[in-house]
Amino acid sequence: MLCIFVILFFLPHISGFDPYKKFTKLSLPPGGPIGPESVALDRFNQGPYVGVTDGRILKYKSNIGFVEFAHTAPNRNKTLCDGVSDINLGPICGRVFGLSFDPETGILYLVDAFLGFFEVGPNGGQATLIANSAGGVRFKFLSGVDVNPITREVYFTDASKTYDLRDVIQGNALADSTGRLIKYNPTTKEVKVELDGLPVPVGPANSHDGTFLLYSENINKRIIKYRLQGLKAHTSEALLNLPINPLKIKRAPIFGEFWVAANIIVQQPRSITPFGFKFDSLGLVLIIKALQGQYNNTQVNVLQEYNVNGGTLFVGSREASYVGIFNKW
Ligand SMILES: *[C@@H]1O[C@H](CO)[C@@H](O)[C@H](O)[C@H]1NC(C)=O
Ligand SMILES: *[C@@H]1O[C@H](CO)[C@@H](O)[C@H](O)[C@H]1NC(C)=O
Repeated sequence: MLCIFVILFFLPHISGFDPYKKFTKLSLPPGGPIGPESVALDRFNQGPYVGVTDGRILKYKSNIGFVEFAHTAPNRNKTLCDGVSDINLGPICGRVFGLSFDPETGILYLVDAFLGFFEVGPNGGQATLIANSAGGVRFKFLSGVDVNPITREVYFTDASKTYDLRDVIQGNALADSTGRLIKYNPTTKEVKVELDGLPVPVGPANSHDGTFLLYSENINKRIIKYRLQGLKAHTSEALLNLPINPLKIKRAPIFGEFWVAANIIVQQPRSITPFGFKFDSLGLVLIIKALQGQYNNTQVNVLQEYNVNGGTLFVGSREASYVGIFNKW
């Protein structure tokens, strides 16, 4: 309970500095899938693209709404899968948890929580499996992906070797430290374990200059900086300690700034209080964004800001039936 008071204590002091006031929603197709866990625009600022509970990646088209773009599951059965939100169908229908576009080729890299690491071209359709294991160990729970904007290497996190998404949703997952950070080199096609033994890593986000990346240690409530270049390459340090468990991290448009999603989750009676934190590469918190008003008792999983219309902040949620959008006016 302490953390609730810590956040509430800080809220009045920073709320005047939150410029993202205007809220709108893009609804998912009615009666269909939910849970736009991840949100991304392509290199032409089209979209957003979202991964939803029935295993598809949907693309938003203005004046039309969300339409089917791609899927990961091989020979995915549309009769069985379209529109479902049953997590037990995830290993059959797919469940994409992270999206990141290569800024030059427009290739979309996808992590499916159950099925592995994929790519799909700008025309969508059946995504191609790149890997479902690394270092001889099968992926268990892929939780996020990001293309390095300079080197264009692709980094993704496997949250655990022990527990998958079903275990987490059904409340059977215990805290463990078997997560991994994986690197994919699109030139050599090598898939390499970069870090092992991590306590539920989520994220990751490369820095704007490509020299380091950040990931969340979810159960340790902190954000880790991992250096990719320089004399201290391959060393890590804690950048930011938070009062609540952080999820995905994303680069913001301004150099050196990032967003992370985090939720206060209380069991019995179950209640969820969602937040977004904007912070910088020195570990300073710039904005604490309370999302309870827009996401009542609904967890948020990502805040992804683009330099469109003076700054557009998309909010992805594992549980919502819409994508939330904040603008400054
Ligand atoms: C697809 O799923 C439906 C509904 O479960 C089933 O009736 C049908 O046989 C499946 N098709 C294939 C090709 O497996
Ligand atoms: C928020 O959620 C709770 C529990 O789901 C519900 O009782 C309450 O009416 C909701 N509040 C609003 C403003 O929708």
